[in-house]
Parts: sequence; structure tokens; C-alpha cells
Amino acid sequence: MDGTPAIEAVGLTKMYGGFAAISDVNLKVRRGEFMGLLGPNGAGKSTTLKAITGLLTPTSGTVRIDGIDIKDHRHAMEHVGCVIETPEPYPGFTPAEILQYVGRIYGLDSREIEIRSRDVLEIMRMWEWRDKKVGEFSKGMRQRVVLAQALLANPQTIILDEPTSGLDPRGMIEIRQTLAELKSKNRSLLISTHILSEVSEICGSVTMIRDGRVIASGDVSRLIHGVGADKEITLEIRTLKPLTPQVISDLEHCQGVRASERMGDYSVKLEFAGTTEDQAHVTETAFRSGLGILALNEKGADLESLYMELTKGDEIQ
Ligand SMILES: Nc1ncnc2c1ncn2[C@@H]1O[C@H](COP(=O)(O)OP(=O)(O)O)[C@@H](O)[C@H]1O
Ligand SMILES: [Mg+2]
Repeated sequence: MDGTPAIEAVGLTKMYGGFAAISDVNLKVRRGEFMGLLGPNGAGKSTTLKAITGLLTPTSGTVRIDGIDIKDHRHAMEHVGCVIETPEPYPGFTPAEILQYVGRIYGLDSREIEIRSRDVLEIMRMWEWRDKKVGEFSKGMRQRVVLAQALLANPQTIILDEPTSGLDPRGMIEIRQTLAELKSKNRSLLISTHILSEVSEICGSVTMIRDGRVIASGDVSRLIHGVGADKEITLEIRTLKPLTPQVISDLEHCQGVRASERMGDYSVKLEFAGTTEDQAHVTETAFRSGLGILALNEKGADLESLYMELTKGDEIQ
């Protein structure tokens, strides 16, 4: 397959009178990629997703799905499954009935509906509940029925607006698990959330949005390590045999290591600010010591610290 992105938004702006709900939003979701659209309430996530799915017309900007401009070609959305405003499923119907109905709208025949319904209900862990009325379900279960609807036509690309919002922790975990299952099926996903850990858990890439503007976008690990070589992190090394002064000294002399702190006989913390090559050298030095490395953790190199870094100074406004 060529490198055409599954979703591409270029310069999306939506004005409400003189107020820009989003300004110049650019993002690209490659095929098979899971991207999180992360930002606080009011940041412009729903507006962005509505513009991308054609639910609203942006004041300016372009959206391409699989390289096709959705403005000129509504069929571009045929292979996209989306849940934007979290519609509630009809309480008087069962999941099986709802999927029958949705399947007919998609133009599937009854055999296809049967096969696909089973498939999506199993993915969403709702197969045993197929003949129970939705009205009796918990919010998390109703949400999984809505997601099953979005997946029924086997879309290549899935767009979800805060699918776990309003759910209890268990409901959230279940939705995340089911979404993680889709990853193995090589689908592309764009999912909005205001929860950082949700992105780190299921997404390989992220677009961070604040006040309607993109503040960072791209591969999660690349963004984290691209914040700047002078960004300080802590490397924590735990060993099987007691640390020797020689090993500590070797580690301290590695490029990028600013300070060290012994944490008992078997552990040392290194303040580190260097390149990824420097960091690899520290790791190699630790392994070469022959002390048996039990653990090597890096703290401060995660999405949370990146987000804090990017939104630094916000509280002083
Ligand atoms: N129809 C509308 N008319 C006026 N302002 C709107 C409208 N829809 C959204 N907004 C404003 O645009 C901003 C972004 O909203 P939204 O995209 O819903 O944010 P999010 O989904 O990230 O919480 C908010 O300040 C919101 O109040
Ligand atoms: Mg929203």
C-alpha cells in the first residue's frame, strides 16, 4: 500500500462569529496508526473531529480521507466508522436488533449482517447480551453497543470522540481493551480524550490541542525524546550485586550524566540530560559492569512530562 495517510487535516479553522473554536489545525494519521487527540475541555477536540467527519463545515481548511477530499467526495467517508456526539442507543431494542437496522442502512445483506454482528459484538464483549434490551444496560455496555454500530461495516478508519467519558473506571478499562484489540487488525484510529494515560495506553501517536491550536503532533516516543537534549530525566538502575565505587564512577563519567545519588547498595539514580545516543551509552556501561542489572527505569521521559513541559506557565495566566 502507498503512503497516503488514512486521515489528513490541513489548516482546519472554525470560526463562531469572531471566536475561533479551532485555528489552523493540522494532523495526519497514517494507516494502521492509533492517534490520540489530547486536550482539556473546550480545547477544540469535538470541533476538530466534526470537521474531519464532515459533521460541520470548517471556515477554512481541507480534510482528506485516504487521500480523497471529503468536500467534493462524500463517498470518502464510506470506510470510516465514527462516534461523535455519543448517541444513546434506543432503550427498547436489543443489540442484535440495532445492528440489524444499522446493517440495512449500510446496505449489507442479512447473511453479512449476521456475520458482522457476531464479530463486532464479540470484539465489544457484548455477544452474550445480544438479545437483552439496551435499556437495562450500564452506561459502559451501552457505549460498547454504540461502538459495535460504528464497527459494523468493517471500517478501515475509526474516529471516536471521548468514547470513555462518563464511564466508571471498569467501563473505561473495558473500552480501552476492546480498542487495543482493533490494533492487531491494522485499523487506523483517531480518538479524542482529555485523559493523558488513555493516550499512552492505546496510541502510538498524539496530537495535543489547546485553545483550538495544535501544540504538538506526532509519534509519542519521538515527541518525548525530541523535547530537547537538555531536558533532564532520572535514570534509576537496580543491580543484583552491590554497586562498586568504580562502577558509579564509570556511570558518572558517561556523557550526559550530571549527578548521581546512591540509593543503598544496589541502586543508583542518575540525573541525565543528553542525547538518545548518550543514554544508550549509559545503559551499555551499566550492563558491562557485570553486576547484573535488575531494572533500569527512566523517569520524566513520558507523555505526562512532555505535556507539562508544553503547557508550562499556563497556571500563571
Ligand atoms: N456551536 C458553537 N458555537 C459557539 N461556540 C462553540 C460551538 N461549539 C463549540 N464552541 C466552542 O469552541 C470551543 C471548542 O469546543 P469543543 O470542540 O467542543 O471542545 P472540546 O471537545 O475539546 O471540549 C469551546 O470554547 C466551545 O465553547
Ligand atoms: Mg468534546
